[in-house]
Amino acid sequence: MKQTIVITGFMGCGKSKVARELARRLDVPMIDLDDQITARAGLTPAQLITAAGEPAFRAIETNTLREFLQTAEGGVIALGGGAWIEIANRYLFKQYGCLSIWLDAPFAVCWERISTSADDRPLGKTIEQAEARYNLRRPIYSLAQIHVPVTGAESVDQLVSRIEVHLERASTDYTDKN
Ligand code: S3P
Repeated sequence: MKQTIVITGFMGCGKSKVARELARRLDVPMIDLDDQITARAGLTPAQLITAAGEPAFRAIETNTLREFLQTAEGGVIALGGGAWIEIANRYLFKQYGCLSIWLDAPFAVCWERISTSADDRPLGKTIEQAEARYNLRRPIYSLAQIHVPVTGAESVDQLVSRIEVHLERASTDYTDKN
């Protein structure tokens, strides 16, 4: 079975765009976890968090991931920004031998995108709230297998080319680390 690649990082780091381009180049499906949740629950992550609270959203997120990974045959998943933070999810990634990639963008770059985007992000409403969350999460993102520093000045193409170098250079090592 082909390996599933998960792309993680804070809100606004570029997960979905990078996942889409990486999947295109590898010729595998691209899966947006937030879209999967929306299809399953009939509400977006933002609507779920607002209506039912973050813990209820996290439970749905984990169930969606588990169901997906049980039947997945490879692909690139763009996670929501908090999915990697949950230990139950990281356990699932390990269990299913996923390869994890962290897009490590500075807070200022993420905030610029969060604050100018039309997307509703209830966990990133104010700069203070978002920055505190960013700082808390950073050490956990750093547990991902591949670290990709992002300055915000690169194109999606450049970022994906850098990821491909990592994938080619040590493809066998990564499965060992799981
Ligand atoms: C969240 C990030 C969002 C979405 C939800 C919660 C988070 O996804 O899953 O609003 O906890 O960081 P993006 O990272 O795609 O914005």
